[in-house]
Amino acid sequence: MDVLRVENLKKSFGKKQVLKNLSFAVPEHTVYGFVGRNGAGKSTTMKIALGILAADEGSVYVLDEKVKYGNAKTNRVIGYLPDVPEYYDYMTAGEYLRFCGQLSGMNKKEIRERSGKLLELVGLADEKKRVKGFSRGMKQRLGVAQALLHKPKLLICDEPTSALDPLGRRELLDILSAVKEETTVLFSTHILSDVEQICDRVAVLEQGEIAVEGTIDEIKSAHGDGNVSLTLGNADAFDKLLTRFPELTRGMHHTLTLAQPDQLPAVLRYIADENIPLIRLERGEVSLEDLFLETIKGER
Ligand SMILES: Nc1ncnc2c1ncn2[C@@H]1O[C@H](COP(=O)(O)OP(=O)(O)O)[C@@H](O)[C@H]1O
Ligand SMILES: [Mg+2]
Repeated sequence: MDVLRVENLKKSFGKKQVLKNLSFAVPEHTVYGFVGRNGAGKSTTMKIALGILAADEGSVYVLDEKVKYGNAKTNRVIGYLPDVPEYYDYMTAGEYLRFCGQLSGMNKKEIRERSGKLLELVGLADEKKRVKGFSRGMKQRLGVAQALLHKPKLLICDEPTSALDPLGRRELLDILSAVKEETTVLFSTHILSDVEQICDRVAVLEQGEIAVEGTIDEIKSAHGDGNVSLTLGNADAFDKLLTRFPELTRGMHHTLTLAQPDQLPAVLRYIADENIPLIRLERGEVSLEDLFLETIKGER
């Protein structure tokens, strides 16, 4: 079952078309990475899914119910952490959750139980400070707790890790991957290593459309095998190989790198024929970062 379905979405601001024909679907109980560079249209897409921005064309469905602009009943089942969350500085984390719970009509007992559990989850249970004294990471974690208060089926987080230091990012990513048991997480980012660490699926938004979509393994195997590096036993053989195969590039520590693995059999045959000592043969892992840059380069 898909918790969120975005179909043929179009959106322009003035003459600038931000979303050209955007479609993707987020399956239940996944952590879904929504990737794109700054200005790609990630926040715009999320706001349309929340019914706080009108699309020009296309539709968004939350659990098969169509999102209506300005009156999105579908928000009952969505938790949202905006890119710049605002808080009342003078409240403690517990007070803030109680306040939000009261606004959304939860009763006292519900609020107490749920916020206790959530503060535990986000590591703020013993925090006595007021929000004023919180680090950015603590504020984002409180934001996640607040967004999860009403047990949403979908948690939408807009660049939750972008402003955080490595430790803060790690903590937040751990929380997002922990909550997928009880909800589904859609989060946007331009940090590819975040996606690589916790996402089940990823969609790359580029030029108003999805350029790449799938599980990380699917994407990696569909987009090149990475390069192969050869470590040779002596340096004398380098020039010989480089002359014969100009597409090889020289690396450090007696290595040569082959960008196109389809050349490998020919290279190995030559190495065998010429009795060149080969110590190691290694296939480099392609990172999502490389694929992303490749996708963008191809489209520019
Ligand atoms: N309300 C608006 N009015 C005019 N332009 C906007 C508005 N909101 C966003 N944009 C433009 O739309 C593009 C996409 O913005 P946004 O969705 O915020 O990107 P992202 O979240 O991926 O960084 C940007 O070029 C931005 O300047
Ligand atoms: Mg944004």
